[in-house]
Amino acid sequence: MLVTGGAGFIGSHSVEALLAAGAEVVVLDNFSTGKRANLPARDARLTVLEGDIRDRAAVARAIAGATHVLHLAAQVSVRASVEDPSDSCAQNVLGFVNVLDAARRAGARRVVYASSAAVYGTPRELPLTEASPTAPISPYGLEKLVDEQYAALFASLHGLSTLGLRYFNVYGPRQDPRSQYAGVISRFAEAIAAGSPLTIFGDGGQTRDFVFVADVARVNVAALGSDATGIANVGTGRSVTLLELVAALERAAGRAAKRRFAAAVPGDIRHSAMRPERIEEIAGAQAPTDLEHGLARLLAA
Ligand SMILES: NC(=O)c1ccc[n+]([C@@H]2O[C@H](COP(=O)([O-])OP(=O)(O)OC[C@H]3O[C@@H](n4cnc5c(N)ncnc54)[C@H](O)[C@@H]3O)[C@@H](O)[C@H]2O)c1
Repeated sequence: MLVTGGAGFIGSHSVEALLAAGAEVVVLDNFSTGKRANLPARDARLTVLEGDIRDRAAVARAIAGATHVLHLAAQVSVRASVEDPSDSCAQNVLGFVNVLDAARRAGARRVVYASSAAVYGTPRELPLTEASPTAPISPYGLEKLVDEQYAALFASLHGLSTLGLRYFNVYGPRQDPRSQYAGVISRFAEAIAAGSPLTIFGDGGQTRDFVFVADVARVNVAALGSDATGIANVGTGRSVTLLELVAALERAAGRAAKRRFAAAVPGDIRHSAMRPERIEEIAGAQAPTDLEHGLARLLAA
């Protein structure tokens, strides 16, 4: 089993879940945002390789002998993709094609890879399903959409089994507070622990589907073991407003937080919501970790 980006936020939780399920895991990571310390220090079934998905030889070495690949490595910043689209494309498109091609050459059976809710852009309908129209509004979102098309092409050209997971807003321990997805949760958690005010951009009525990282890790493991192909949304199916999030955080922390309101971020998507039917079919319909419980686990980490 190869996990690219395995030292990152979603990656390290997925590696833990794979090891717990008895898998032998090779991690390929360039440690640009991931950390070695996110992974178990000593586990005979874990091999950690430092290398870049842009380096075809490094990808080929890492994949040798693997039947399954979980591809999570990516340039994950929307802002960086706007500022340097060539670099972002090299990592998120060319890097992904390197992984697909290495998987095919090595005779791997299956590639499960991280797409993103960013492929939808500003949603034209809610809740979003896999059939909803895609219209990315950043190079990052477009790169993920192109990845889905490459994966489908490799499936039809070479018979490679591929499944793209469009993660919504994943949160939990080890998340970079700068993340556009749920960095707001890490920032709020730090602020509430320090007794500082929480800055809410806009009126706090914006909605998101926040999904706990351990649930995503479970879904990743189940998805690798299934033979479902195509794409699937990954979220809880229950969106909350930012103000509801703050209230849940206060309950989890057992203390009140001061709220400070600031101007809305231009271009911020107002509402996001998804339906989890397809991913429940693939990974089983296990009840998601409820927000307050997930937040308590984040605060305790
Ligand atoms: N966090 C979310 O809510 C979310 C939502 C949608 C999609 N995603 C996608 O999920 C995946 C994992 O994201 P994350 O939130 O865990 O971010 P992360 O930054 O913690 O993880 C990315 C990992 O990939 C590694 N990496 C980056 N570029 C690399 C390269 N060129 N070669 C090798 N390794 C490289 C990083 O060092 C890091 O360990 C990404 O593909 C991201 O686009 C995340």
